[in-house]
Amino acid sequence: MAQLASSAMQVLKSVIVSPKLSRAFQILGAAFVALEIFRATRVAGRYLLPRSSAGHLKAKYAKAGSWAVVTGASDGIGRALALELAAIGFNVCVIARTQSKLDEVVGEITTKNPTVQAKALSFDFGTTSNEAYADLFAQLDALEIAVLVNNVGISHTNAELFEDPSVADDLKLLTVNCEPMIRLCKYIVPKLKAKRSGAIVNLSSLSAVVTAVPYLATYAGTKAFNQTFSTSLAYELQPFGVDVLTVTPGMVSTGMTQGSAARRPRVNFGMVDSAVMARDTLAQLGRVISTAGHHNHDLQTSIVSSLPLWYVGPSTYKLFKKISDARKRKAAAASVAQQNE
Ligand SMILES: NC(=O)c1ccc[n+]([C@@H]2O[C@H](COP(=O)([O-])OP(=O)(O)OC[C@H]3O[C@@H](n4cnc5c(N)ncnc54)[C@H](OP(=O)(O)O)[C@@H]3O)[C@@H](O)[C@H]2O)c1
Repeated sequence: MAQLASSAMQVLKSVIVSPKLSRAFQILGAAFVALEIFRATRVAGRYLLPRSSAGHLKAKYAKAGSWAVVTGASDGIGRALALELAAIGFNVCVIARTQSKLDEVVGEITTKNPTVQAKALSFDFGTTSNEAYADLFAQLDALEIAVLVNNVGISHTNAELFEDPSVADDLKLLTVNCEPMIRLCKYIVPKLKAKRSGAIVNLSSLSAVVTAVPYLATYAGTKAFNQTFSTSLAYELQPFGVDVLTVTPGMVSTGMTQGSAARRPRVNFGMVDSAVMARDTLAQLGRVISTAGHHNHDLQTSIVSSLPLWYVGPSTYKLFKKISDARKRKAAAASVAQQNE
């Protein structure tokens, strides 16, 4: 045994002192350090330098048209992006299910930007019907679309294990989060390519960057689709002058993240304001192909993506298990209290 250990030590020594190998390690080490410095400089630059504005986009995409179309725009991030696009000067078409909320957004757009036109289209992206989409596209045909924002998306009601929601709920999530992105891109890509101008913005999520989000498995899976689909499309359309921006935000203060509480969660470092996030996102359109949107989330992404999956996966599992168990205990206690009344 001692002999085996001593021969192993000798082999190790000869490898370590080998000039060629030690040179290779030096080069590898230097390359690694250079890469980390490059990454840190980029993150620091994006975090510390003033954000560029998106004011030039109207002129940049003028060849494609004057309209921006935003899905899921009656609330949350979609609404914030629609308002920001109108402030830049685009006419805006907002799509979601609730007509009254869409009318409010249209009212706000035209009040704040009297020279801009706004249009509301009520549509349920839970559909898989060719006819329903044909009707929607017939209405969109009337607009010269320069920018398409594929924002509509839903999440699980609560963080829950994969087996807990019904298959119908999971498939609805798959439909709403993925099908409109494919259908609307199929509709718009040939038009923008022909005009050699325009942009598509696709909403994914930090969960796609994390790559393992136990307790939100189906949602995270759909967001991974959004991310890979969108970055792939970016390289297909780059030669034709069409910009595609993939957005992978962390927590944004919207209906999706307010949970069961009636009020919106407070904005803090991790939970960012939707209007600021929308402004920061559009400022990066045409400059990069992927962004977290808000600069706090850029920093968060950089940290999360440098952590190993063997650490991130189990940590996320523990965090969401705690949240889910606490919610179940609270619900059980409320149900007992109700029975005792
Ligand atoms: N909030 C976050 O922290 C966060 C983080 C990462 C990524 N994201 C992504 O950002 C996108 C927007 O999220 P959000 O937080 O802004 O969501 P939200 O506040 O819940 O708003 C969702 C919007 O989509 C519409 N919508 C929902 N189901 C629809 C359907 N079946 N057909 C048509 N419209 C529908 C809603 O309007 P109606 O109810 O009127 O239809 C609403 O306008 C999603 O893709 C989400 O995955 C969000």
